[in-house]
Order: sequence, then structure tokens, then C-alpha cells
Amino acid sequence: MAGALPRHLLPLTAQVGADGRLSVGGCDLVALAEEHGTPLFVYDETHLRERCREANAAFGGRATYASKAFLCRAMASLVHEEGLGIDVSTGGELHVALRAGVPAARLVMHGNNKSVDELRRALEIGVGRIVVDSDHELDRIERLVADEGLAPPRVLVRVTPGVEAHTHEYVMTGQDDSKFGFGLASGAATAAVRRARASAAVELVGVHAHIGSNIFLLSGFTKALEKLAPFLAEEGDLDELSIGGGLGVAYVEGEETPTFAEWAGVLHQAARDLGITTELHVEPGRSIAAAAAITLYSVGTIKDLPGIRTYVSVDGGMSDNPRPVLYGSGYEAFLPRAVEATRPRAATIVGKHCESGDVLVRDAHLPADVAVGDIVATPVTGAYGHSMASNYNKVPRPPVLFVRDGEARVVVRRETLDDLLALDA
Ligand code: LLP
Repeated sequence: MAGALPRHLLPLTAQVGADGRLSVGGCDLVALAEEHGTPLFVYDETHLRERCREANAAFGGRATYASKAFLCRAMASLVHEEGLGIDVSTGGELHVALRAGVPAARLVMHGNNKSVDELRRALEIGVGRIVVDSDHELDRIERLVADEGLAPPRVLVRVTPGVEAHTHEYVMTGQDDSKFGFGLASGAATAAVRRARASAAVELVGVHAHIGSNIFLLSGFTKALEKLAPFLAEEGDLDELSIGGGLGVAYVEGEETPTFAEWAGVLHQAARDLGITTELHVEPGRSIAAAAAITLYSVGTIKDLPGIRTYVSVDGGMSDNPRPVLYGSGYEAFLPRAVEATRPRAATIVGKHCESGDVLVRDAHLPADVAVGDIVATPVTGAYGHSMASNYNKVPRPPVLFVRDGEARVVVRRETLDDLLALDA
């Protein structure tokens, strides 16, 4: 028998009314579902802004938002207004950020396989930083600068420090066996830094070492700094060290994560202890966006399989949240009409897709009276949900609402059935 949903999994402005219903940003969630339909992503704008401010405050204004976690024009504008730079890892993310009016100088361009076209656009508009990931990329930049007369970009060299962060194998990036960056242990990182320094086609500003995502133990980051310290001392004269993103987020009851201030405290202390004087930058994505949003679904069918399990089917699924299928990620579920209700009913919440793997919450706990027609919610879906959504089974992607001070604005509209035909030639 599970108790009520732990409140710390809800967005900052979440409030429970006298009737037991949940509102976020002053908006009643069940009413939003009625007005906008389901599935529906609801983001607490205050929460997003607060997280941006906390990150920048903890890191002295040197935080960049990793837009892969969640991006649309409204999000890019919000992040820019709050004073963070934006990490874009493809030409697509770059395009959205630019169209939101974010100045190119505030963008950091990532990617382990940037195309010539992506690099050309980055150079033409003058992105703030390019994080160089390979020698082939340096070749391409050198050709663009030499042949097309484009101005040499400021670059960071992506370094793989050789640490295994405690996280899912699919989102570890700091280990020697990685498609990202230049390995420290092999000497590739040293060679790349020296090549960049000697090249007239780039201006070397520093190094970048993102070790993975959803990391709960800060020791992974300090280990990376330990590996990087002698390298930084040896190479000297580097202004910036970005340790990337990766701060973990609590998704389910019992999980706890460090705050931005704790993350910063540990990183800055480790840097001091190790004699690192290079300016420390970070690139959080999940820790800004994840807990800001809740996804709302409608319950369509409930099947009790005696002695086996209860399946609660909702109107979304792996197309709006592929994380349970991809990484075995856990989520909580609750009914926004009764947030404080205990949740004695064990169930598996599944989507509407044509496969048994289409599970949203394998071991969900729901109130005893959950019924067809109920709005069921999963919290902490603001990162890598909408951004990884697909049209599998030709299911239109859900809209995104930003809520604040009693007002809800649609920042991404619901896809229509005709949108599903829009690309057919
Ligand atoms: N910087 C770089 C270079 C990255 O590759 C990433 C994430 C970040 C920053 C932001 O990391 P965060 O603070 O969000 O952990 N789809 C996976 C996560 C993939 C993360 C990819 N890179 C998931 O849903 O868990």
C-alpha cells in the first residue's frame, strides 16, 4: 500500500486545494485537461525560471542550458531571459534557438558528427562556442575558414576524461570507450588541444568534459576533475572548463539529488583542492526542466487480470515518454483530482501503442477508486519526454502548456491528423 504522492516530486508552485485537487501555476490540472485535451504536458514557468536562476547563481553566471532536455521557442526565450546560454547539439536545435531570438553569441554548438552545413551555419552566424569533437571536424572547420573566408570560431575541445559515472550505460559519456570527444588517456586530447592552439582556423578557449546524465553521486564529477587537473596544468592557458551537465533528478519516492548549490560547492572545492584555476562552467538540462512538468493522460480502459496484474491504459505512451522503454526509467503516478489520496491500488500504466513494451509506469500505485475517464498524471516529465516524443503508430504529439499566475499559454500546439500527412510527398 503506497501513501500519497511525495510532494517534492511536484513543481514549485503546486498547490492542493481544499477539495484535494492539484493546481500548478494557479491553474487546476483537471480543468486544463478538459480544456486542452490529453495527453498534455504542463510546465510550471516559475519552476523553470527558478531553476535557471539557481543554476546561474551557484555557478556565477556560467550555466548553459542543454536544450536537448526540452526545447521550443518559448523555452529558448525563457532560458535566455534568465541569463543562461544555450547548448544546441544539432542544426535543428540551433535553428529553434535562433528563431526564438537568442543571440548566436549565447549558443554553444555540440555534436559528435557535425555536418559541413551545420558547421557553416554556426560559423556564419558566429556561435559563441563550438565544442570540437573530432579531428575530422577540425578539418572541416579549417576548410570552411580557408575556402569560404568565414571568421575563425571560438572552440572548446571535448575531452573524454576516462571516468565511469554512476548512471545508465546509454547516457554515460566520460569513459574511454566513447563516441564522444578526444580521450585523455590515449593522448588524443593533448594532441587535439595542441592542434587547435596552433590552428589559425580556430580560437581555442578551453575544454569540455560531459561525463553523463542523471548522475546522483557527485564523486563522478570530482573524479573527472582529478583526471583533468594534470592535463590542464600541462596544457596551461585555458580559460574555460565546462564539466557539462548530468546532475540527477528525483523521479520516484525515495530518490534524493544534490541541489545546484551543493553541486557547485563540491565542484568548486575540488577544483581548488586540485589547483584548477580554469573558470568552471556547467551545462544542465534535466535538472532545469524535468521536475517543472507533469504529463496528463486520460484513463481509457482498466483490465484486471486476476492473480496477474491490473493494466490501466492511457491515451499516450511510449510516443510521448520513451524513457521507461529505453532506460527502464521509473515514474510515479497520481490523480490530480485527489493528490493527497493514498494509493493502495497496484497497477501497470500502459499506453495505446501496438506493443507490450509500451509501458509508462510498471509498478504504479493509484487511489482505490481510479476509474475510466479519470485524468492520471505522471510528474517529473519535463526533460527528455516531449523532446524525445515520436509519431509512432501515427499518434499526434501532445501540446505543451506553460502555466503561471493563473494563466495557461499554449507554447507548442497539439499535432493534428493533417500534420501527420504534412511530410508525405
Ligand atoms: N551537455 C552535453 C554535452 C550533453 O550531452 C548533455 C546530455 C547535457 C549537457 C545535459 O545533461 P543533463 O543535465 O540533462 O543530464 N535521453 C536521456 C538523456 C541523454 C542526455 C544526453 N546528453 C534520458 O532521457 O535520460
